[in-house]
Amino acid sequence: GGNFNVTLIPGDGIGPEISESIKAIFSTAKVPISWEEVDVTPTIVDGVSTIPADAIASIKKNTVALKGPLATPIGKGHVSLNLTLRRTFNLYANVRPCRSIEGYKTPYDGVDSVIIRENTEGEYSGIEHEIVDGVVQSIKLITHQASERVARYAFEYASKNGRPHVTAVHKAPIMKMSDGMFLRACRELAAEYPEVKYDEDLLDRVCLRIVQNPAPYADRVMVMPNLYGDILSDMCAGLIGGLGLTPSGNIGRDASIFEAVHGSAPDIAGKGFANPTALLLSGIMMLRHMGLMEHAAKIESAALTTIAEGKFITRDLGGKASTSEYTEEILKRLRA
Ligand code: IPM
Ligand code: MN
Repeated sequence: GGNFNVTLIPGDGIGPEISESIKAIFSTAKVPISWEEVDVTPTIVDGVSTIPADAIASIKKNTVALKGPLATPIGKGHVSLNLTLRRTFNLYANVRPCRSIEGYKTPYDGVDSVIIRENTEGEYSGIEHEIVDGVVQSIKLITHQASERVARYAFEYASKNGRPHVTAVHKAPIMKMSDGMFLRACRELAAEYPEVKYDEDLLDRVCLRIVQNPAPYADRVMVMPNLYGDILSDMCAGLIGGLGLTPSGNIGRDASIFEAVHGSAPDIAGKGFANPTALLLSGIMMLRHMGLMEHAAKIESAALTTIAEGKFITRDLGGKASTSEYTEEILKRLRA
């Protein structure tokens, strides 16, 4: 038994095996939490897949969850359960840090970006119509309220995490009204945080610049509407080696869910060589969110030095280690 209960959603495919790794690491690091494991296999209600009620109840009660990958069933009526969870708990800010991993060489050095993605509306509102045959409309819904709330989160994050610079990323010259509304909210918040530098940049320009030189983005927080954040965060992940190495946190007022953003990798599921790093880094983000700073730092250092040393890294990183050999090496460092 521990002091905190945390919901664990192992998820599909490689989810259970990477979750085992995180459980072992947290236990050896004496993290004071007890896992409450829930299954999120969808139940079909009126032809629509929904999340089982006990999973929802567990997250509601514990207010913090760690989540592995969930496969989105293909077919009509199957909405992504990832999105259902974000919606159910109104997880309005999606925080996606992305930092170069020592020991894993890519053409980019010194990547250290933080994307804060509006997580409840925009192009993800799910409002679509076929107006007449051959003409469809997908609504990008932007509200001042949701824009303000995520902008506030970004400024708070910037001032609390030693990155006192917020860049709002947009396409307001084209999306004049929706992105214009988003920017208005960001400017209002900028006025409330005079100690945080504020500027604005175009999404396409940020993409161009960051692949030329990511260094200037290492001192700031970028905040943006939903779809822009989805795309830009994958692009940043690509700079450091992919989604197997990046954490993510979905933050709400009443609950927060930390998740690995990569897929369930059914092709390698059960074979024991999946890389648990993205889920582990998400778990570390979760610990910091819960105020367990020392545990977070200790686990982070054990994992990052294991990768930097390079003797026990998984195949996706060019190594030969199985999930359990990589995990065991982290455990060894934690015990030392
Ligand atoms: C992500 C994913 C999701 C998204 C999918 C699975 C719905 O790509 O978390 O970034 O588009 O938000
Ligand atoms: Mn995505």
